[in-house]
Amino acid sequence: MGFPKGFLWGGATAANQCEGAYNEDGKGLSTADVMTAATPDSSREITDGVIEGKYYPSHNAVDHYHRYKEDIALFAEMGFKAYRMSIAWSRIFPNGDDETPNEAGLKHYDEVFDTCLQYGIEPMVTLSHFETPLGLQKYGSWTNRKVVDFFLRYCETVFTRYKGKVKYWMTFNEINVMSTKPWMAAGVHTDDEQTRMTGAYHHFLASAKAVQLAHSIDPENQVGMMYNGHVAYPASSDPEDVKRANDFMHQMLFYADVQCRGYYPAYKLKEFEREGIVLPIQDGDEEELRKGTVDFISFSYYLTHVVGEESPLRFTGLNGVKTGYKNPHLKASEWGWPIDPAGLRYLLNVLYDRYQLPLIVVENGLGAKDKVEEDGSIHDPYRIDYLKDHLRELKKAIDVDGIPVMGYTMWGPIDIISASKGEMSKRYGFIHVDVDDEGNGTFKRSKKDSFYWYKEVIATNGGNLN
Ligand code: BG6
Repeated sequence: MGFPKGFLWGGATAANQCEGAYNEDGKGLSTADVMTAATPDSSREITDGVIEGKYYPSHNAVDHYHRYKEDIALFAEMGFKAYRMSIAWSRIFPNGDDETPNEAGLKHYDEVFDTCLQYGIEPMVTLSHFETPLGLQKYGSWTNRKVVDFFLRYCETVFTRYKGKVKYWMTFNEINVMSTKPWMAAGVHTDDEQTRMTGAYHHFLASAKAVQLAHSIDPENQVGMMYNGHVAYPASSDPEDVKRANDFMHQMLFYADVQCRGYYPAYKLKEFEREGIVLPIQDGDEEELRKGTVDFISFSYYLTHVVGEESPLRFTGLNGVKTGYKNPHLKASEWGWPIDPAGLRYLLNVLYDRYQLPLIVVENGLGAKDKVEEDGSIHDPYRIDYLKDHLRELKKAIDVDGIPVMGYTMWGPIDIISASKGEMSKRYGFIHVDVDDEGNGTFKRSKKDSFYWYKEVIATNGGNLN
C-alpha cells in the first residue's frame, strides 16, 4: 500500500521563470522575454521587443542559469528523484529558424543534466514551457505550419544530444492554455478562435511527430502530453448546470483527447462545423496524429471551477478562465485560487477513466506570501498543509482507485517568478530566494520549514502524511 517503489518525487520549474541570463551565451529572445510584470490593476504587458526602462521578470528571474549547481544540490538534499525543468528553445536555436544550433546553449543543459544525474535525479524535460523564440513572430509563430518543422529540428537536436541522459520528455506545457493564454502557449496574441485552433492544430501535429522522432532516436524515450488540469463542477444539480460543466470540460479535455487518442473528438468537430472553423489539414496528417499518441499524461493541478448559468464559459486572453462562481465549500489562496485537494483525486479518476495511460502530477503547489524572520527562518505551515492534503488524496487515488501514478513534482521547489503575474511575492518554494517583485535582492537561497518536511516525505516514500 502507498506510493509505489521508484515513485518519482521531486519538483518542477520552467526556464523563463527561473533561469534569467536572458541574453547570455548566445540565447535569443523568447516570447517570455517581452512580458512585463503585472500590477494590481493590469495584467502582464506584451511589448514590441524589449523596451528600455520596463521591467521584464524573465531577464534575471532567480538566476538559476548561474546557480543551478547550488539549487540542484539543495534538491538532492531533499532527496529528489526527479527534476522537471524546461529547455529554453531560444538558447538552442536563438531565432527559432537557425540552420545550426547554438553550442553554448546545448553545453549548458549538458551540465545541468550531468549535475542531476550525479545525484541520481532523473531530469524530466518540457520542450516548450510558455515560450517560443521571438524570431518566429515573423512567420506568425504557431499559426504557420513552418514552425512545426522548426520545432522538430529543435527536438531532433536535443533528443540526439541528450540521448542516454534524458528519457522523460513533455512536448508543450499545459497545451490547453492555447484556449486561455495563447501568447504564452504559442506566441500568438489573439482572441480569435480560428487562430487559436490553427495554432493548436500545429501543436498537435508537432507533438505527434516529436513523439515518433523521440522513439526512433531512442526507444527508451517516453514522451508525455502536459495538461492544465482544469476541473469544472456544476453550480447545482440542475441538469442544465451539469451540461454547462461538461461543456467546460470538453473545451479543455479535447486537447488531451487528440494527444492521447490520435484524433479529434466528434463533439469538437461538430463545434468547428457550427462555428465555421477550418483546420489546416494536409495529406498524411491524420496518420501522423494517430501514430504519435503520447506515452503518458502529465498534468498540473491547482484549483477547480464552478460553472453555472451566471458563469458562462469565458476565456479571456492572459487572465485565463473566468467562471464567476465561488465554491462555498472551499477556502482560497491569497490569490483567490480555490484550494481543493479532493479535486486532485477526482481529476486523476477522470483522466484515467478516459485514457488508461500512466499519469504523473508535474505541478501542484501553493503560491503564498512568506515572512522571513529576524533569524532568517521561514515558517510556512500553510504550504505544508496544502501539499500534505493534496498528497493524501493522491495516495487514495493510487491505493483505493488503483490509478498508476508515476510521480509527483511539486511546482516551484525553489521560489521563481509567477507565470500569471510575473511577480516574486507569489512564492511556491521549499527554498526561499531573496528577490523582490522589482528584481532587487541578494538572490541568496535559504530553507523554509517545508524543506525539512518534504525531505521527510521523500525519505519515508510518503509514509509521514497521516
Ligand atoms: C502553471 C504553469 O499554469 O501554473 C506554470 O505551468 C505556473 O508555469 C504555475 O507558474 C503557477 O501559476 P502562477 O501564475 O502562480 O505562477
